[in-house]
Amino acid sequence: MDYWYSLIAIALFLRVNADDINNEEVLATNVESSTASMGRDTETVSTRFPYIVSIQGNTQGYYKHLCGGAIIDVQFVLTAAHCVMTPTPLELAQLSVVGGSNTLNSDNETRFPVIGMKIHPGFKILRGHDIVLLRVKTKFQFDNVQFGKINYKVVIRRGGGINATFLGWGRMKQGHKKDLDLVPFQTINDEVCLKNHKFIFLTSSEICAIHTGTTRGACDGDSGGPLVDANKQFLYGLLSYGRKACQMGKPYAFTRISTYGDWIRDEMNEMLLH
Ligand SMILES: *[C@@H]1O[C@H](CO)[C@@H](O)[C@H](O)[C@H]1NC(C)=O
Ligand SMILES: *[C@@H]1O[C@H](CO)[C@@H](O)[C@H](O)[C@H]1NC(C)=O
Repeated sequence: MDYWYSLIAIALFLRVNADDINNEEVLATNVESSTASMGRDTETVSTRFPYIVSIQGNTQGYYKHLCGGAIIDVQFVLTAAHCVMTPTPLELAQLSVVGGSNTLNSDNETRFPVIGMKIHPGFKILRGHDIVLLRVKTKFQFDNVQFGKINYKVVIRRGGGINATFLGWGRMKQGHKKDLDLVPFQTINDEVCLKNHKFIFLTSSEICAIHTGTTRGACDGDSGGPLVDANKQFLYGLLSYGRKACQMGKPYAFTRISTYGDWIRDEMNEMLLH
């Protein structure tokens, strides 16, 4: 298939190279140094995004960064549904959320076990609804430095032309420190996305946005990460899929968060009852 989900790309890769102990090295070969890649796109390297988290899976005895995610409440995180499917859902005990630093694998980060997970019932590969709500065991202590939440109750105008910033660590080398990248995008009209870019699976609950930066596009490991208004700190979308990993100047599909406001609220309430 001509489409790409970052985590699936990694899963297939790992399966193919199951005996190759240097997987992580191989995955990391195309990674530009993060400091170099921040440069022009991003004057805000030191800006904190206290709601950004890494979704991690423990499948072979060690934690592995799977995806990005965003804190939306004291015990809740949003990420893409495909992040927790390999292809069947991971067990709760295998999942954790890591936050508290924009540098992944730094000393300042904290790990939060996941105790609840609600995958959107409509989720199917390339059929939209790529969203999952995770509940963590311990409450995040909001100080807006290490931890904070992002406002998700915002409607992004349809029709395109809105500048937005994607936050992600991209391809991660196991255990290595890496700074968050800010990757610029601009939303594009659904019709243009469909006709000009052949995103034939685009649904009305997705945002199509094109990469406008001068370095990497969205990469493996970026899935589920937040597309935001970096000034107002509004959550617009979560990275779902693209055509080719890391490509510059290409469109990507993001789960349109404004479509899920009621679902998110209802599921949070429901999960808190148990
Ligand atoms: C850890 O956090 C402290 C205080 O917020 C900060 O001064 C320090 O630079 C951080 N260290 C790392 C490795 O991010
Ligand atoms: C959006 O970003 C582009 C650069 O990618 C810039 O030229 C343009 O002025 C921005 N538009 C707005 C409304 O900020």
